[in-house]
Amino acid sequence: VKLTVDTDAQTLCLVEGDTSRTIALYSPQAFELLAQQWLRVGWSQKYSYRFTWLGRPIVQLPEDLLRIQEVIQQLKPDVIVETGIAHGGSLIFYASLCHALGNGHVVGIDISIRPANRAAIEAHPLHDYITLVEGSSTDTLVLDTVRAVIGDAAKVIVILDSNHSYAHVAAELRAYAPLITLGSYLVVQDGVMALLADVPGGQPDWTDNNPAAAARDFLSEHAEFVQSRPPHPFDESRLERDATYWTDGWLRRRA
Ligand SMILES: C[S@@+](CC[C@H](N)C(=O)[O-])C[C@H]1O[C@@H](n2cnc3c(N)ncnc32)[C@H](O)[C@@H]1O
Repeated sequence: VKLTVDTDAQTLCLVEGDTSRTIALYSPQAFELLAQQWLRVGWSQKYSYRFTWLGRPIVQLPEDLLRIQEVIQQLKPDVIVETGIAHGGSLIFYASLCHALGNGHVVGIDISIRPANRAAIEAHPLHDYITLVEGSSTDTLVLDTVRAVIGDAAKVIVILDSNHSYAHVAAELRAYAPLITLGSYLVVQDGVMALLADVPGGQPDWTDNNPAAAARDFLSEHAEFVQSRPPHPFDESRLERDATYWTDGWLRRRA
């Protein structure tokens, strides 16, 4: 792909193989094309590895965090389950939303919680909102523990951010889908991998071996879920698409 930005003519020219098209630079379509490249270059430069939330590193695109905050503010879940803890920033983020909303508890699962990360999470002022579970997210004992914490909670949302291989995400989808309550979401993170296969540091097999592919195949067999990007509660922009790492990642339970 060859992209040429002409700020004088206010155009963006896209050449792909034998075809080329020129579009207005200041248009939703140009934003989408440039945002795709911003995501690719940013990923190669570890853009998402430079933020913290209330003191803990959070490995996310800030755009995605704002979007899920909107969903959680509207849904007011009783339990937020996240697979993949790393430094704990995302758990603290969800805990801070529970605190602000006056409702909710967070369950974080990781195959290996490093002692320094565990200590920092357990010393955090929001720790009471969080239950840590160590083990693989698809392990039977881990799932039993998660189900016990959830109990008969009315609203449950699950966020998948652990091992991003197709096989693991497919197994997580099968394991966690039954926990999602009507109208809530199973959020599959990092479907952007398909877009990063040819970026330095990416892997050629990411074109198929990625969370978005697992989510699409899951949906084809589970009519009770639908791919549904949450509506923007406030949107005065001209844009249709978000810049996101969570490509095709919003699975809403509709039945
Ligand atoms: C991308 S990081 C999580 C980032 C974190 N959610 C955040 O937003 O800052 C992925 C984490 O998944 C964990 N992980 C890898 N395989 C796993 C598995 N099978 N079960 C649970 N966690 C796993 C890794 O140990 C790592 O800490």
